[in-house]
Amino acid sequence: MSGRIVIFTDDPGWHGKELTQAFAKLGFISSFVSLTECKLSIEPGLIPVIIPGFEHALPDAVFVRGVPGGSLEEVVLYLDILHALKLLNVPVYNDGRAIERSVDKAMTSFLLHQAGLPTPLTWVLRNRVDAIHIAEDQLKNGHYLITKPLFGSQGEGIRRIEKMTDLFWLTPSNGVYYLQRFVHCAGDGFSDYRVFVINNRAVAIMRRRGKSWLNNVSRGAVCEAIDLDPAIADIAVKAAKALAMDYAGVDIIQDKAGQYTIIEVNSIPAWKGLESVVNTSIATLLAEDLVNRYIKCVSHETIVAVS
Ligand SMILES: Nc1ncnc2c1ncn2[C@@H]1O[C@H](COP(=O)(O)OP(=O)(O)O)[C@@H](O)[C@H]1O
Ligand SMILES: [Mg+2]
Repeated sequence: MSGRIVIFTDDPGWHGKELTQAFAKLGFISSFVSLTECKLSIEPGLIPVIIPGFEHALPDAVFVRGVPGGSLEEVVLYLDILHALKLLNVPVYNDGRAIERSVDKAMTSFLLHQAGLPTPLTWVLRNRVDAIHIAEDQLKNGHYLITKPLFGSQGEGIRRIEKMTDLFWLTPSNGVYYLQRFVHCAGDGFSDYRVFVINNRAVAIMRRRGKSWLNNVSRGAVCEAIDLDPAIADIAVKAAKALAMDYAGVDIIQDKAGQYTIIEVNSIPAWKGLESVVNTSIATLLAEDLVNRYIKCVSHETIVAVS
């Protein structure tokens, strides 16, 4: 009998197809399910997490390709489902804890700093007067500032504050100011690096060359193949470790002085752009890692325990 994997996503697309093929090669059938369709059902005799199509037996593992946005309550429910599955011994890749800490840019910055890793100066607060003071102080000292939504992705809602009159743009996002010192990148134009880490190994890297200082591929940045410098690989692996991720897409900028600085650690990174410039099947590596570390070794332990 083949194993069964649930891929949580609302938009399977290219990544869904790649993962399905990679899991199929390992003998696993994948099903796409939206987290919006899952339930907690606290009733005697029932599996307390209901995944459509898996009411009678939970899958061998779940791969999280997308967590929908929504109200705080909706997002908490999606995370509850991921946490509950893990407590029911279903491998969750990446798990709810890694996802909740990395979708929250404040916690990401805190954890990176706590781990002693290089990340830009950052302030996260509610108070407007304090936010203005911080911004004025940075501008006076010759630094630009970036403001970001706490839960943003793909460059959404990010602004750059360059001069005092820009303070007009200093608005909170859903009540919270996330202010970060802008890092001027090395070299000509605008670029940063995306390092893909799986199980504490940097498996691929690309340079993203933005049309402006926003280097997201979804904002038109061009992907370029480059060699993996061991120094950047080391930082990326440490970043994924600091956030306890099975796999991660780590955004890193090299500053004018040549130092690498971690901008973001993504727990649900895309890899289509990356694969257009590297000769690696990311889906194959992800599927193999999940199956080898979380499914095969568990069945092996069970067999050993029974025999
Ligand atoms: N502190 C910063 N200094 C310089 N560029 C930045 C900084 N923060 C973000 N950027 C630019 O904006 C892009 C998006 O920021 P990021 O924090 O990765 O958010 P998102 O989740 O939207 O991708 C980065 O890839 C980088 O090009
Ligand atoms: Mg990013």
